[in-house]
Amino acid sequence: MSQTSDPQSPSRIWGGRFASGPAAVMQEINASIGFDKRLYRQDIAGSRAHCAMLATCGIISEADANAITSGLQTILAEIEAGTFPFRVAFEDIHMNVEARLAELIGEAAGRLHTARSRNDQVATDFKLWVRDTLATVDAGLAALQAALLTQAEAHADAVMPGFTHLQTAQPVTFGHHMLAYVEMFGRDRGRMADARARAEECPLGAAALAGTSFPIDRAMTAKALGFAGPTRNSLDSVSDRDFALEALSAAAIAGVHLSRLAEELVIWTSAQFAFVRLPDSFSTGSSIMPQKRNPDAAELCRAKAGRLIADLNALLIVMKGLPLAYSKDMQDDKEPTFEAFDTLALCLAAMTGMISELTVDRAACKAAAGKAFATATDLADWLVRVLGMPFREAHHVTGTLVKAAEAKGCDLIDLPLAEMRAVEPRVTEDVYSVLTVDSSAASRTSFGGTAPAQVRLQCAEARRRFGL
Ligand code: ARG
Repeated sequence: MSQTSDPQSPSRIWGGRFASGPAAVMQEINASIGFDKRLYRQDIAGSRAHCAMLATCGIISEADANAITSGLQTILAEIEAGTFPFRVAFEDIHMNVEARLAELIGEAAGRLHTARSRNDQVATDFKLWVRDTLATVDAGLAALQAALLTQAEAHADAVMPGFTHLQTAQPVTFGHHMLAYVEMFGRDRGRMADARARAEECPLGAAALAGTSFPIDRAMTAKALGFAGPTRNSLDSVSDRDFALEALSAAAIAGVHLSRLAEELVIWTSAQFAFVRLPDSFSTGSSIMPQKRNPDAAELCRAKAGRLIADLNALLIVMKGLPLAYSKDMQDDKEPTFEAFDTLALCLAAMTGMISELTVDRAACKAAAGKAFATATDLADWLVRVLGMPFREAHHVTGTLVKAAEAKGCDLIDLPLAEMRAVEPRVTEDVYSVLTVDSSAASRTSFGGTAPAQVRLQCAEARRRFGL
């Protein structure tokens, strides 16, 4: 018996014109069921909406629609119970579901694909999956923001060194540093929301590429699936993967943010910094060095940002130069997207755990904050404010004083007044009041600045703005 005449053969679905089935390697390269089975919920939702619309529009009978709907319900239950027979021979989730439907309800199953193609079907399923996933990611990002905010509130006044070029720059507060990441992950949430807002049109009903001659109601299926309305060009509908690219771009940027925070944790947990300590639950040991506490989760978050960037690139490269409309290349859209969002979810959860549970060594932070003439800018600002000196000149005078302190091997605050006056005779005792790390941080009260008072204000504002 040839494959095409066997009612149980996969070729029954598209094999009318074929005399033989696919080569084993053809099946292997062609099949996507191994990964697109993840779309089962979206696929069944899309089929139910399509079926209801076909019946409402008089394209299939109510009796057939009822049989299809209950068959799809059975399939959903089978998949969720782990009893569904996924078969590589049926290529992908769409044909696996349809083939099983035929086994369950017989002939009526063949009417479901009226006025539909796998091209609009997969575009719809995948877009639904991306939309669902963007909501999950938003929750993960919000949880991380909440953890950062809690640390920011607890350490609004913990002074630490702020760096540029990873060289001590000016004292900042630990809370202020945490709030920087609250802003970054807030923008990531905004990018996810933007991607979601542009994924509001439903491709279902575009059919293979040209639309259909059946009197379908695309607004009805779009609404049933939670979209704002149908896409407006059938060629674009089956060719478009922008929604995944935008989501992947947002994910890659979030990955970059996570990697920067991860890198700071790696630095801060080192013995040389010792600003923070990760609990045992987020540290690993060494098999040879008994004293080690390694920040593996942070290092892996740092590394996995590479995957997120690569996954975006993978899909950009798949899409680049593809002629309209659908090409099978586009089947390769799913694995990078799934990988990226699985990776992002894992990293967000690990980072949220680390941030929630880390402890800050406030004394170590403060001691480090005073090193390397961190309050030199405060001295220059004093010369400007009190003596009316132009900032450029004050910068130069301060540089000379730093050089004097360095030669003496002391901090600026320990440089005797006489030695300061040797450089600038108008300096008074009052200058020492601006040279402590606490006074330095407390003085930076400008909007968005590092002063504890400003940080507390920004914490409260962030809780409101981000709904945390
Ligand atoms: N598995 C395919 C994909 O993921 C479904 C669409 C197949 N369409 C086709 N014309 N062969 O892209």
